[in-house]
Amino acid sequence: MNMDMKVLVEKYGTPLYVYDFDYIENRYTTLKEAFAGKKSLINYAVKANSNLSVIQHLAKLGAGADCVSIGEVRRAMDAGVDKYKIIFSGVGKRDDEIREALEKDILLLNLESEAEMKRVEMVAKALGKEARISIRVNPNIDPQTHPYISTGLHENKFGVEIDMAKRMYIYANKSEFLNPVGIHFHIGSQLTKLEPIKEAAVIVADLVRSLKAIKIDIKFFDVGGGIGVVYSDEVTIPAEAYTQVIFEAVKGLDVTLLCEPGRYMVANAGAFFTSVLYEKVNDGKRFVIVDGAMNDLLRPSLYNAYHKIEAVGVEGETTSADVVGPVCESGDFFGKGVQLPALEHNDLLVIQSAGAYGFTMASNYNTRNKPAEVALEAGVDRVIRKRETYEDQVRLEREYLK
Ligand code: LLP
Repeated sequence: MNMDMKVLVEKYGTPLYVYDFDYIENRYTTLKEAFAGKKSLINYAVKANSNLSVIQHLAKLGAGADCVSIGEVRRAMDAGVDKYKIIFSGVGKRDDEIREALEKDILLLNLESEAEMKRVEMVAKALGKEARISIRVNPNIDPQTHPYISTGLHENKFGVEIDMAKRMYIYANKSEFLNPVGIHFHIGSQLTKLEPIKEAAVIVADLVRSLKAIKIDIKFFDVGGGIGVVYSDEVTIPAEAYTQVIFEAVKGLDVTLLCEPGRYMVANAGAFFTSVLYEKVNDGKRFVIVDGAMNDLLRPSLYNAYHKIEAVGVEGETTSADVVGPVCESGDFFGKGVQLPALEHNDLLVIQSAGAYGFTMASNYNTRNKPAEVALEAGVDRVIRKRETYEDQVRLEREYLK
């Protein structure tokens, strides 16, 4: 980050999210090319960053969307994702969400329980439609990541065990209103080890073979998302190594490979900019108080996640400081023990790797307006979400004042 960034941020104010769209394109292309020679579809996991312009940017490159609510499905469609490239996952879909997804005729509904399958069958029957479904298998693999974002163990709420999946496929195959065409797994997020992905892919591919043997023809093999990124010094999985283990697992099977990367596409495309308000020292401990807070970027507070923090265009000897926001919670911090030079009011800090699960997890806690979002594409900047105003926040309440 250089002085140009400073000028750019001055234009839009802080706190501010900035996303590098060229970086996103590069990530998409790298992953897509790693699938070369195989039928594949990259379903961008919209939850990572659901700004319409981000989704549209990926849609134009050919990406599909992995959605976990009907709201996300609507976003994907609004942003121009082809309906046959949209999948709808999630452990708890309401009837109205199922109905709308079926009416919209998206590629797949991804099921996570037997009860949900029966519900989808009922809704499809009422509509006189056949639902294309996929079942999320829980392969009971430890992904070796943070427990909050680990999902592929039986102790997690996600998916169904292999035996249950088999029973569900047999049931669905007989149903007039269900068409079991896909299989899915997702073992966790921020994965930096290849071995658990390989093990899961092998287990699930074996299940596909046994289903094919009983004439249940699985056409879509969805390996989920979860490819890790560099926040500090992680060694990540190269795209080609990732696809190789998948190719190996599905050898001999005629399937279209789906994957659902979120963080991989956008985390390091994004930076969060915040201005220094004050410095203070409490009993020898240095605090830098900034205008951004946990409501804007929750990952440090929620997961104790590391995000690199730097002062933009400020030189000088550094000392250790906690970078904190104005929200009334001790957990409101962006970094602890961060080396920073002496800072003055309005100096700019950049918090890196904030493109994924940044804005999407933002809230209005403390009646703080959500930050604006800006895209940078081929050297040109543009707003992709206006800064919220107080009026935006109270719009749904004001009419009820007595
Ligand atoms: N597919 C499924 C079924 C998922 O549950 C997820 C993420 C993804 C794909 C995308 O995973 P990714 O490629 O982004 O790792 N808020 C947390 C991350 C939660 C991830 C939830 N599921 C964080 O800030 O680290």
